[in-house]
Amino acid sequence: MSVKILMVCLGNICRSPLAEGIMRANLPQDCFVDSAGTGAWHAGQLPDKRSIATAKNRGLDITNQRARQFKVSDFDTFDFIYVMDNSNYQDVIALAPTKEAKLKVKLILNEIFPNENVDVPDPYYGGDDGFENVFDILEQACGIIATKL
Ligand code: 4NP
Repeated sequence: MSVKILMVCLGNICRSPLAEGIMRANLPQDCFVDSAGTGAWHAGQLPDKRSIATAKNRGLDITNQRARQFKVSDFDTFDFIYVMDNSNYQDVIALAPTKEAKLKVKLILNEIFPNENVDVPDPYYGGDDGFENVFDILEQACGIIATKL
């Protein structure tokens, strides 16, 4: 199997499920893409209805996904761990057992805006347009990641 990529946000129901769906659509079948949340509140749940609807509008079905919490063994499983915001970054880095593990963790929007440490805004408490915006920005970031692999 080739590259393994994990997308991480807080709840694993809004942003990282979109990132997972978009990244998978941009990579060959033999790549492994998954997502997780730093929190466990939504474990076992489908993505947020608004993420499902936004993905569907853009031709992606993400209803195969179920939320799960990030776990320390993910550092071994995955080659790249893309986090959605600076808070996720702090939470994931705090669990990293080694320097090598820390080096796998990257802010996803640094792919578009190198070294600027820009957050993917959390759309959970906002309207539907927030999800469209998140989709657009993640599509751009995942496109860059795919061309680099
Ligand atoms: P996500 O959004 O991290 O993009 O999945 C959130 C989903 C749920 C909550 C916060 C953010 N929550 O507080 O339950």
